[in-house]
Amino acid sequence: MDISEILNHLGEDREKYFKAVTPPVMQSSIFCFNSVAEMREGLKKEFVTPFYTRGHNPTVAILRQKLAALEGSEDALIFASGSAAVAAAIMSSVKSGDHVICIEKPYSWTNKLLNNYLVNYNVKTTMIDGTKLENFEKAIQSNTKLIYLESPNSHTFELQDIAGVCKLAKSKNITTICDNSYSTPLFQQPIALGVDMVVHSASKYLNGHSDVVAGVLCASKERINKIFASEFMTIGGIISPHDAWLMLRGLRTLHLRVNRSAESTEKVVEFLENHPKVEKVFWPFLKHHPQYELAKKQMCKCGGMFSVLLETEKIEEVEQFCDSLKRFLLACSWGGHESLVFPIAALYDSQNYDNSELPLNLVRIYIGLEDPEVLIEDLSNALATI
Ligand SMILES: Cc1ncc(COP(=O)(O)O)c(C=O)c1O
Repeated sequence: MDISEILNHLGEDREKYFKAVTPPVMQSSIFCFNSVAEMREGLKKEFVTPFYTRGHNPTVAILRQKLAALEGSEDALIFASGSAAVAAAIMSSVKSGDHVICIEKPYSWTNKLLNNYLVNYNVKTTMIDGTKLENFEKAIQSNTKLIYLESPNSHTFELQDIAGVCKLAKSKNITTICDNSYSTPLFQQPIALGVDMVVHSASKYLNGHSDVVAGVLCASKERINKIFASEFMTIGGIISPHDAWLMLRGLRTLHLRVNRSAESTEKVVEFLENHPKVEKVFWPFLKHHPQYELAKKQMCKCGGMFSVLLETEKIEEVEQFCDSLKRFLLACSWGGHESLVFPIAALYDSQNYDNSELPLNLVRIYIGLEDPEVLIEDLSNALATI
């Protein structure tokens, strides 16, 4: 099915709602029945027809179909946040005594779940440099049940050979999860490369308007049914029907937004690469990126976020650069209409800053939908302050 069919029509049965072009927000927590017999039947199908919104809601169901189709999976679940989707995927794969392999520097709360929380349940994690396939092989233990990938990760943009890791994992009966928030299914398709479960922070590109926090988990019907009846229903971290509706609206323009963001990023990156106040740019589609060939092989385009190392050791100068920007907002996250900067310097003096991992002159930049020339001019003026 082509992308425009998925974004504009899939899952939308307009005959059911007065031929309205846009589906309604089914803002109801419960759905009623005409008889006890009907109710009994409804309860048997709680996960596939409306009964109680924690399990099934018609507005959310449209979103599920679209996201599964985009990602090329049999089914999908929508969560109240990306972190809820990550947690459900991980927790569904391990039990006490199991071992996990995770790439270095994943999203911070994924790291906390694995290394601070699951250790309480006797699940141990080995963090590895995921740029080398042999590191996965070396880290496998007899009790390894899960390999967690995030390709690329979102501060230093290191990749993993997704197909290679999945081949290895399958041969050892190990489950694989890949966080695909950065690329979206439009630029990278981990399921086609062999991954068992794909997770997203839908708060980023998928929703795309910085007004919803949501998460997605895509997998086979068998896995989704199992997670539905366990982590999904017991923890209950569901998206509200209204947020699902906003996401449906955001998705209509997904292809336009991610392509615009990616194309503008190419121009901005080229400018920064040649700027004397920039020591280094981290973006996988740069020809001298150490994993450029792999990036080209497994991603059809590269997302609109990258990092720069500024040519300064002084935190004051990093702050001055960021504070001078007029067209970029200082904020976390990415994937919305607006360009953003997130300086590692903002973590300085906070419990989240581990000085061994990311240098203070590293600034993460997201390119939104603005005119790239305007953004370049703004960056140029701010760099002049260093
Ligand atoms: C790569 C990645 N995965 C997962 C998450 C968690 O998503 P959420 O903020 O929607 O819970 C984030 C959030 O920034 C992220 O950057």
